[in-house]
Amino acid sequence: MASSLVSSLALVFLLLTISEAREMLVGGKAGAWKIPMSEDDSLNAWAASSRFRVGDSLVWKYDGEKDSVLQVTRDGYLSCNTTSPIEEYKGGNNTVKLERSGPHYFISGAEGHCEKGEKLIVVVLSQNHRRYTGISPAPSPAELEGPAVAPTSGAGSLKRGLGGLVAVGVLVLGFLF
Ligand SMILES: *[C@@H]1O[C@H](CO)[C@@H](O)[C@H](O)[C@H]1NC(C)=O
Ligand SMILES: *[C@@H]1O[C@H](CO)[C@@H](O)[C@H](O)[C@H]1NC(C)=O
Repeated sequence: MASSLVSSLALVFLLLTISEAREMLVGGKAGAWKIPMSEDDSLNAWAASSRFRVGDSLVWKYDGEKDSVLQVTRDGYLSCNTTSPIEEYKGGNNTVKLERSGPHYFISGAEGHCEKGEKLIVVVLSQNHRRYTGISPAPSPAELEGPAVAPTSGAGSLKRGLGGLVAVGVLVLGFLF
């Protein structure tokens, strides 16, 4: 009994990981890692409109000859201190997996760029938060307005089957924790 519960929980986690891990292109497009033109154009404006979860990856695309990405502490972020980053990424094509919840701080490694606003705070949501947002998402306008035609393809019903399994698993987790 207990062991089958554990293995179904393991399956649920696997499904959650598969269905939810995403790659997020920083700034929403290649070349967005640069000095912003305005506040609205800033990378933090982009970050505020996105949701980041444990397991997601950030992807940077930029001119590797002119720039780099430094992961820094909060102090390093606030003072634009490029001297002792936690991690340094170079070359113009970097993928950084978000392994834990909480804030992650990034600044440009190019001299003077951080001071001009080329910096980013990504706040990664905890598992708890994911649980609450995952149970009963409100239908999107597209779903509400779409034609009421039942999908007939096998892939569609398989997907819904998995979705249901995940939802049940999330409910089980909700009772356990
Ligand atoms: C930047 O950080 C280094 C190492 O933590 C420190 O020694 C240095 O004083 C800092 N520079 C500034 C301008 O804060
Ligand atoms: C960027 O890196 C990813 C993974 O590291 C790789 O799959 C992709 O081909 C690279 N793209 C370019 C344009 O180098």
